[in-house]
Amino acid sequence: MTEVERSLSTMAFTSVLFFIFSIYSCSAQVPLLMWTSDGYSLPHLSQPPAGQAVSSGQLASYLKSALTAAPHNVLLFLQDKLSIDDFTMYGGVFGNKQDGAFLNIESALQASSNPLVLSALDWSASDSVLKLFQGELGITAVHIDPSTLKEFQLNPSQLSLLAIHLPYTTGAESKELLLKNDEIIGEVLDMFKSHDVPYTAVYTGLKPSRIIQDTPIMARSSVGRSLLQAPPQLSVKPPVIFNNTEGQPCILLWADNLNISYAQGHWVDLGPETFNGSATLTGSTCNETISRLVLNYQNFTKFQSLRLIFSMRKIFFPVSARNWTVMEQVVLEYDGQTAIFNGSGGIYAPAEYSFHCQSVSSSESPLLVPRTLTDNATQWRLSFTDFQIQGFNVTGELFSYASDCAGFFTPGIWMGLLTSLLMVLILTYGLHMIMQLHTMDRFDDPKGPSISVPLNE
Ligand SMILES: *[C@@H]1O[C@H](CO)[C@@H](O)[C@H](O)[C@H]1NC(C)=O
Ligand SMILES: *[C@@H]1O[C@H](CO)[C@@H](O)[C@H](O)[C@H]1NC(C)=O
Ligand SMILES: *[C@@H]1O[C@H](CO)[C@@H](O)[C@H](O)[C@H]1NC(C)=O
Ligand SMILES: *[C@@H]1O[C@H](CO)[C@@H](O)[C@H](O)[C@H]1NC(C)=O
Ligand SMILES: *[C@@H]1O[C@H](CO)[C@@H](O)[C@H](O)[C@H]1NC(C)=O
Ligand SMILES: *[C@@H]1O[C@H](CO)[C@@H](O)[C@H](O)[C@H]1NC(C)=O
Ligand SMILES: *[C@@H]1O[C@H](CO)[C@@H](O)[C@H](O)[C@H]1NC(C)=O
Ligand SMILES: *[C@@H]1O[C@H](CO)[C@@H](O)[C@H](O)[C@H]1NC(C)=O
Repeated sequence: MTEVERSLSTMAFTSVLFFIFSIYSCSAQVPLLMWTSDGYSLPHLSQPPAGQAVSSGQLASYLKSALTAAPHNVLLFLQDKLSIDDFTMYGGVFGNKQDGAFLNIESALQASSNPLVLSALDWSASDSVLKLFQGELGITAVHIDPSTLKEFQLNPSQLSLLAIHLPYTTGAESKELLLKNDEIIGEVLDMFKSHDVPYTAVYTGLKPSRIIQDTPIMARSSVGRSLLQAPPQLSVKPPVIFNNTEGQPCILLWADNLNISYAQGHWVDLGPETFNGSATLTGSTCNETISRLVLNYQNFTKFQSLRLIFSMRKIFFPVSARNWTVMEQVVLEYDGQTAIFNGSGGIYAPAEYSFHCQSVSSSESPLLVPRTLTDNATQWRLSFTDFQIQGFNVTGELFSYASDCAGFFTPGIWMGLLTSLLMVLILTYGLHMIMQLHTMDRFDDPKGPSISVPLNE
């Protein structure tokens, strides 16, 4: 093997490893909440800068300094999986607060005087929380899961370190399960409260439930998109821009198609009319917390007047320490009738980002659902493709970073990525092997002794 080959193959291998590692490390984070019982307070800890993940080393020092002041009865609520998105999806941010899946946790956080909220903890660090506390307190943890909780007896005269393991599922049952987990957390906290035992509680996930999407790879919307498909003709049609009263752009909208269909009729694409400037924006408004984009179409469909309205709200959500843009409603007003679709909680993005989705539709994997079963909206079907919108923190006529509705690291992409990396490895190895093949010297060298074939005498 020559020097070049050797360094090439080493390079290939290390870059593959580095790539896997960097993907893994930059995207896998879990939140961690820590609070104390009434009357106690965590020491003031300096929070990491927004967007920066907390490493296990930092976490260890956080917990150490916390235990200098916090009670030494420790309750660790370790959920199989958890991501900050769970709080935004199921935390009652959308619509009714009473509807949230984290009521007990939220009220405990509110009652505690100085809770610690880490929104992005390296998930390998969350794994070590249990060990850290065992080491600091010098006692072994009692492991409890929901089925053995009933048998647990609290001994107030003894320090306790409880590790309460909570399940998690992705999909339709998520919210129900999170509600159950929250009830369990409430029960455990009540048990300590009723015995008047002070405690320090920690709630975190052992793994992320969703891979966070705003990795640098997603960066600029057009870059993110071009990774997945050929770049669309972005330069051909500029986005719809609504200016606020000061004349500064405040809402941007772009889409490939804006298809609508009434009463099972033909699909009509509002796109061309929208982006060639024929649709007016009369009625649109925007301020710090509410953005409403109204697209008016006259005599374009079978209705004399049709209005398509996107209502967005900026919501501050304490756990993520961040403002979020939430699409609350998409409304159609047609000849005096109104049809209202709810955003169903799926259309949201950090407020300083734009929201992008390859397909926003009211039928397959609905991000838009009719407000009620009898709403006029049930007569309509909407299907927007390559849809991008930004209602807050607009700084010019270009979109900010795009937060995509489909995570970049979907299972399909993961599989493709890993398969191709494997292929590269195999190829490198194969190349390596081929380079090492040598023909036998003897046949090569005409000057060497010739082969003698012993003949029978
Ligand atoms: C909105 O503002 C931008 C930049 O300030 C300007 O170029 C554009 O003409 C304005 N559009 C309208 C419709 O006023
Ligand atoms: C939406 O409209 C475009 C252009 O009219 C069309 O090519 C596309 O097939 C339509 N999509 C659906 C889902 O009907
Ligand atoms: C915009 O597009 C629509 C539909 O293609 C067309 O009817 C209309 O005349 C166009 N308007 C302008 C100003 O180009
Ligand atoms: C924004 O506008 C909405 C309605 O248009 C209004 O209720 C709200 O108070 C406004 N917020 C601010 C901060 O001006
Ligand atoms: C739409 O059509 C109606 C009747 O056909 C007409 O009275 C009206 O002026 C038209 N509006 C526009 C904006 O063309
Ligand atoms: C969230 O938005 C409000 C106003 O809408 C602003 O005062 C506040 O500073 C923002 N918070 C963050 C963390 O950006
Ligand atoms: C349809 O919209 C009209 C006008 O807003 C409303 O009066 C009517 O009740 C709606 N119909 C249904 C079934 O929601
Ligand atoms: C839509 O939102 C309204 C108000 O926010 C709520 O009352 C209604 O239950 C929601 N509908 C669905 C289907 O989620």
